[in-house]
Order: sequence, then structure tokens, then C-alpha cells
Amino acid sequence: MTGLAIDDISMRFELPKGGSVQALKNVSLDLKPGELMSVLGPSGCGKTTLLNIVAGFLAPTEGKVVLNGETVVGPAAERGMVFQQGALFEWMSVRDNVGFGPKMKGMAPGEKREIVDHLLDVTGLGDFKEKAIYELSGGMQQRVALARCLANDPDVILMDEPLGALDALTREKMQGLVLKLWRETGKTIILITHSVEEALLLGERLLVMAPRPGRIHKEYRLPFADMGVNADLREVKKHEDYNPTREEILSMIWNMEEEIMGRSETSA
Ligand SMILES: Nc1ncnc2c1ncn2[C@@H]1O[C@H](COP(=O)(O)OP(=O)(O)OP(=O)(O)O)[C@@H](O)[C@H]1O
Ligand SMILES: [Mg+2]
Repeated sequence: MTGLAIDDISMRFELPKGGSVQALKNVSLDLKPGELMSVLGPSGCGKTTLLNIVAGFLAPTEGKVVLNGETVVGPAAERGMVFQQGALFEWMSVRDNVGFGPKMKGMAPGEKREIVDHLLDVTGLGDFKEKAIYELSGGMQQRVALARCLANDPDVILMDEPLGALDALTREKMQGLVLKLWRETGKTIILITHSVEEALLLGERLLVMAPRPGRIHKEYRLPFADMGVNADLREVKKHEDYNPTREEILSMIWNMEEEIMGRSETSA
């Protein structure tokens, strides 16, 4: 049994002062190896919670996550995480950051060097191998984060707003890089984003979540990620289905946010 199964996950956080928050309710999802899924939804709908459960950082109150037939019981190298920012070793060189996982695994130095050099070349960091992280721009740091994740050769890559802190132009370039790496490595990827455009461009499957309690609202299967592997993303946006789908999802999320605000006004 290969692939990732999220099987009827519910998550309730008990609050220290009493009461609880139902962050997720009955979320089920299957991803085949190599699928790329983007996840959208209003703030607080449980996206990060779901990713943390798949990563093994949090144990769900109900349900389970199964990867390649094995139930997830904690973090492991088979599930790599890329955060929005700040998860690199600032004082170490680019090379040492990317080689950290292979080193911890006890990989022979020659083999490690080969893997690290290759990943730094494909992420366009070939000329920056010996630089320290704090010397790099935000976009370059996120490329290091991607390379470091890939160096562990995970089956699944989990990304929580990986491009959220970047300027628009760098972000667009990075979206192209994510698609290129996806195609070249065949990894299963779950990518959370607040950008509807990014979710459309990168999501072969696009999941819209709804809040209170967090649950799956709607799923789309889209052609744009496949198209974007070989074409300029600006060309992909000219596809006749792109704008109508974008409008539909924008109003879906807008309506959810209106409803949340309405509810909190009446409860206030
Ligand atoms: N450790 C925790 N303790 C208590 N409540 C929590 C905890 N973590 C998350 N929550 C609550 O669970 C709900 C879902 O949070 P989560 O961070 O998963 O949302 P999100 O969809 O990632 O939001 P955003 O888009 O703002 O990042 C929220 O109501 C949040 O307040
Ligand atoms: Mg979040």
C-alpha cells in the first residue's frame, strides 16, 4: 500500500483556562505518490494543524495518518517540512545546511557531497555554497530550505506558506522552481498557501478547507501545474479556465470569511 492516507482525522485542543477548540473534524484524504496538492482556506480553518499532524508533530484526537502502509506516530525523515522562514541554521554555510540530514544519517562524505552539489545546482545556489545563511536574500534562503528538505530524500514534502514572505517577483520564480522540483523528483507534496493564484498554479489537486470546525469544503483537479512544468506561468494564467476558477474560489473563501465575521459579531 503506497501513498499517504489521512484517515478521518479530528483534532480538539483543550485550552488551559478550560474549554476547547475543535480545529479539525473528520478530515479524510488520500494522496498517491507524486501528487501535488495545494491547500487554501480562511485563517484558523486548521491548515497548519493538519500539516503538523501529517508531519507527526501533533497527535490527532481521532483518526490516523498512514504513509506507505505505516501509521505515523511521530516526526521522521520520510516526511520533510518546509516552513515560511527561519528554520535554517543561520550560522552554518549553505552547504552544511543542505548536508545536515545526510550527515546525521551517517552518509559517507563523498556521497553526501555529490547529493548536496547536485541539489544546490538544481536550486540555482551553485555559486553560494560556502556563504552563511544570514548573507542570503529571503528567496535564496527558501531555496536552501527546499534543497535541505530534498537532501533527506523524503517521500512527502509538507510546505506551510513556503513562499509567503517573498516579494512578488521572487515568489513567481520560486513557484516555477517548486514545479520543476516536483516533476524532477516525483515527490508527493502538500503546500499550504493564502494565495489563490499560487494554489491554482501549483495544485494539481486543490483543497479548499472551511472553518469551525476545520473540514474539507471542496476539492478541484486542475491542469495548470502540469502545464506550468513546461510553460511560463504567465502563459498558464491565460488558459480559459484559469480566471473563472480563480473567481469561484475567491468568492467561496470571501463568503466563508464574511460568515466568520458575522458569527463573531453576533457572539460578541
Ligand atoms: N496549540 C494550540 N492550542 C489551542 N488552539 C490551537 C492550537 N493550535 C491551533 N489552535 C487553534 O486551532 C484552529 C486552527 O489553527 P491553525 O493554525 O491550524 O489554522 P490555519 O488554517 O493554519 O490558520 P492560518 O491561515 O492563520 O495560518 C485555530 O482556531 C487555532 O486557534
Ligand atoms: Mg497556518
